[in-house]
Amino acid sequence: MIVAPSMLVADFARLGEEVRALEEAGADWLHWDVMDGHFVPNLTHGALPLRACRDASSLTFNAHLMISEPLRYLDDFLQAGADIIAAHIEAKDDAREFLEAVADADRRPALAINPDTSAEQLQPLLPLCDMITVMGVHPGFSGQEFIENTVDKVAQVRSMIEDLGREVYIQVDGGVGTGNISRLVAAGADVVVSGSFVLQHPEGYATAIEQLRACG
Ligand code: DX5
Ligand code: ZN
Repeated sequence: MIVAPSMLVADFARLGEEVRALEEAGADWLHWDVMDGHFVPNLTHGALPLRACRDASSLTFNAHLMISEPLRYLDDFLQAGADIIAAHIEAKDDAREFLEAVADADRRPALAINPDTSAEQLQPLLPLCDMITVMGVHPGFSGQEFIENTVDKVAQVRSMIEDLGREVYIQVDGGVGTGNISRLVAAGADVVVSGSFVLQHPEGYATAIEQLRACG
């Protein structure tokens, strides 16, 4: 299981230290939540913090683009050193074009899917994806309650991937913690994003990540 803490909950006044602390605590990837105030009702940042922190860590940088025009800004994230880059299937830009552009740049393309979007819509695009990000909450904010039928959607995506006969990660993002991780992993998830569970854990990042691994 790959654990990807979400930088959305990090202390932005000490971003480089946070990156190093998460790496030391056993994180596998770092998940960067990019929001444009249009695709989702919240604004965060563009590629700048990824670029600023790139030299502070050798971890995989996973950019989650919750923006209407992911193609328009893709170059910024490539130049910033993002390794695995997800756009939403619901975004305005063409998903196929986005996935092909990421692959052409020798990075790993991913597609994220909102709670209200059916998994069937992924079918024609799945051969172009290295990862599907199944949202466990409506994107926009950390600390929201997990939407339970996400578990069924993960199982559905897992069976689509098995039919495809090629390895594609399933990432679950939003509302993940020790209360639901075992069900998600049993359904076929192999990458878990965690914002509030890890970064607001009273016993610190390392304990939080150990607890997630113990349950997964
Ligand atoms: C939600 C973001 C998630 C979120 C995770 O829009 O994509 O990455 O920050 O935070 P938690 O784990 O607190 O739901
Ligand atoms: Zn995210």
